Amino acid sequence: MNEIVFLGIESSCDDTAAAIVTGEGRILASVVSSQTALHADFGGVVPEIAARAHAERLDLAVEEALAKAGVTLADMTGVAVTAGPGLIGGVMAGVMCAKGIAAGAGLPLVGVNHLAGHALTPRLTDGVEYPYLMLLVSGGHCQFLRVDGPEDFTRIGGTIDDAPGEAFDKLAKLLALPQPGGPSVEAEAALGDPDRFDLPRPLLDRPGFDMSFSGLKTAALRLRDQLIAEQGGLRQTDRRDLCAAFQSAVADVLAEKTRRALAAHPVPVIAVAGGVAANQSIRGALEPIADEAGARFLAPPLSLCTDNGAMIAWAGIERFRQGHRDGMDLQARPRWPL
Ligand code: KG4
Ligand code: ZN
Repeated sequence: MNEIVFLGIESSCDDTAAAIVTGEGRILASVVSSQTALHADFGGVVPEIAARAHAERLDLAVEEALAKAGVTLADMTGVAVTAGPGLIGGVMAGVMCAKGIAAGAGLPLVGVNHLAGHALTPRLTDGVEYPYLMLLVSGGHCQFLRVDGPEDFTRIGGTIDDAPGEAFDKLAKLLALPQPGGPSVEAEAALGDPDRFDLPRPLLDRPGFDMSFSGLKTAALRLRDQLIAEQGGLRQTDRRDLCAAFQSAVADVLAEKTRRALAAHPVPVIAVAGGVAANQSIRGALEPIADEAGARFLAPPLSLCTDNGAMIAWAGIERFRQGHRDGMDLQARPRWPL
């Protein structure tokens, strides 16, 4: 093969992922092994369990990706790996795996920032040109990025406390709904009345693009406790109405901040990524805001919104084209701001 082909490895949270991607943006294979079931009993990701599972599964994920793509390591141009930010045990497992492959197969190694992987996804899926805006909303992140180049990101705003996915997960826990909370809350919300309860829209009264979601969660907790005190328990309609009110508050906050971000940065495209971007009512709230600003609204397919190896392979290719190479001293970093 003359074309660039990269192996991408991702293990920064609870998904063990490997993918093979070409320089033209063709995804030859993308394997994601989710650990959701391993952490289900703990109400959140347990770092030690995650690290051990990554160590056990990384080689298998890589082998499976190569087999699915019908290639071998000899066909690769390089290996890209998430070197941070994330849960350090998992990031280390990925970096060690990638170093072993790079050294063994004599391939260049490229360390990738996980957030850059998400932020560059619109270029992989739709060949979007710079500059563009990215709203990254997941269980661990919430930020507006202005993307001007493969290594040129400006964080123009973000949450000052919880990420929205984390807030969805906590609300689900409060209401005894299954984890991950986002999809459960969305399903309940679809059957509820968003106007029965009045939840706050935090920070909308302040200028700028910063957001806050922890107050929203506390307000939902108070409402739940008040309902339990008044009625002796929660009815199904209460749960549904609370979910609907919560989702509509999150959607309102994201929509208004997106409107402001586009007004201050009139770029042709706004893209979303992260697990929360799977939420149909949030997507539905953002699309007209983009339309109004004359920008294209881009939501990558769900499998590329959530954590995956393809975005890491692609970000590696972009960095590689910039001449970036890492040595065997590449460090795993728990924190790594863009
Ligand atoms: O991007 P992701 O897979 O992992 C990271 O956090 O990096 O995002 C997972 C988060 C979880 O908090 C989950 O509850 C949330 O995304 N999520 C959703 C939906 N699907 C997943 N939140 C709202 N609505 C959804 N449909
Ligand atoms: Zn992520």
